Amino acid sequence: MIIAVDGPTASGKGTVAKALAAHFGLPHLDTGLLYRAVGRQVFLDGGDPDNGGDALAATTFPEGLLLDPELRSEASGGLASRVSVHPSVRAALMERQQAFADQPGGAVLDGRDIATVIAPHATAKLYVTASVPARALRRWKEMSARGEDVSLAEIEADLAARDDRDRNRAEAPLRQADDAVRLDTSELTPETAIAAAIAIVERIVKYG
Ligand code: C5P
Repeated sequence: MIIAVDGPTASGKGTVAKALAAHFGLPHLDTGLLYRAVGRQVFLDGGDPDNGGDALAATTFPEGLLLDPELRSEASGGLASRVSVHPSVRAALMERQQAFADQPGGAVLDGRDIATVIAPHATAKLYVTASVPARALRRWKEMSARGEDVSLAEIEADLAARDDRDRNRAEAPLRQADDAVRLDTSELTPETAIAAAIAIVERIVKYG
């Protein structure tokens, strides 16, 4: 069984995908991490994330970079969203994601284009979303807990800019697949979002 989980930043898609993987005993790939690694590698190389050549060169990042805690930072998220607009970068990361999806037994992948591009044949497709204020507040709480001093307004502006870039790029833009089930987590706790996601997948498995 392949489960595709797509959605914007801080929608809760990562939490939902991880929990689905644990519940159904499937391996999980956070595809955003691959784009974050490319963004971080461009930075380490002193390159320009908006330059297709520099970004493509960074797709050969060393595997160890995926463990770098710096990949979780807002800065790496911003770089990821800039390198991910280049078609050559998306093509370079595609095979790895498709091989993960098509491994025997199946997998859970979360990202922006899993249901639309990477695994359109997925068994279950979820589009996890939430309002910008709800997502900004979550991100602000996470960052404040880490001792980072940033205003809610700054985070909202950053999220809106990232959404805009992800939704309006020419190649594999963020959008809900026609056959994906929408899960709005604005008013949900992580526990209720996870329970709803499990119920959606179980329903699809049972009734198609
Ligand atoms: O999901 P996460 O916030 O880690 O993703 C970082 C950025 O990587 C996104 O804003 C998006 O631009 C890009 N991305 C993508 N396709 C994916 C996963 C992430 O374009 N499948």
